[in-house]
Amino acid sequence: MVGMLIFVLSFCLMVYYGKETFYVENKATTENVYDHHIVLITEEVGNDYWHLIENGARDEALNHNIYLEYIGPKRSDNDENLQTFDRMISAKVDGIIIQGLPGERFKNLMDKADENSIPVVNVDTDVPDSQRKAYVGTDNYQAGFLAGQTLIGDTSGDQFVGVVVGMFDALNQQDRLKGFKDAIATVNRIKLVAIEESNITEIGAAQATYSLLKQYPNINALFGTSALDGIGIAQGVEEMNPTTYPYILAFDTLPETLELIEQEKIAATIVQYPYEMGRLAVLKMVELQQKRTVEPLNYTNTGVVRKETIKNGEILQSGDGF
Ligand code: BGC
Repeated sequence: MVGMLIFVLSFCLMVYYGKETFYVENKATTENVYDHHIVLITEEVGNDYWHLIENGARDEALNHNIYLEYIGPKRSDNDENLQTFDRMISAKVDGIIIQGLPGERFKNLMDKADENSIPVVNVDTDVPDSQRKAYVGTDNYQAGFLAGQTLIGDTSGDQFVGVVVGMFDALNQQDRLKGFKDAIATVNRIKLVAIEESNITEIGAAQATYSLLKQYPNINALFGTSALDGIGIAQGVEEMNPTTYPYILAFDTLPETLELIEQEKIAATIVQYPYEMGRLAVLKMVELQQKRTVEPLNYTNTGVVRKETIKNGEILQSGDGF
């Protein structure tokens, strides 16, 4: 009996002190070297658009002695992102940069972060009615409106438009679509025929395009609202090989999109500045760590790029949309 008690007691002491030692060590390794531990939660770890945000964030983090952790799901997955967000709050990191997500659970987690004094900056997509301390990214409604104006300006005659969105439930996609619809509603000759989802993959966008053109052979214009959609649309069109090549409008300036514009397969693309978003998001986070007042809305620029403004894969200039 006594032996048993001694064993239980020494086991408990071992676990307690073991944990303490581990905790102290862990803290020391990050805290001694860096001033702050900031987490950037991405929509998809391997996505090229998000790598640009990551690069901007890393460069700015270096300037401020910040340990920047870049984490997220392999494939876009809101549930996994919410779990990661929750885990990072419990880990008591110094700040979290995350894309705004739809639904109450996200807002509840924003409240939880706030209660734990962990500032959150929304990047790429805003949830204005939440506890986010700042938003850094495109004005997505205006960018969609600019896309609509671009299509109006670039085309003549009746346009039957098929749209490929990244994710139906992504707030930035919804805002872009709303802006686009409002812009084309100002002219009679442009009709939105149908919308499909790509799951933010090239293959998904190609399949969506295939199905749009098959179901609605009158479609003569296509608009992709996220970074890989334009590339997938061009692939889908090539596969379907319609008698007249449609007008294609893309989003973002990934190298393949620029190449397809130079080859005249994509007519134009709406420009975002993801590197700048990452950089500015970290900068805002630094201000928040210093308890400074931060401007809540920090819109990065947008513009339109066409063949004339690209040379050997490089953008020469992009006209500001607004
Ligand atoms: C959007 C991001 C999205 C990405 C997908 C971009 O246009 O702003 O929210 O993750 O496309 O590739």
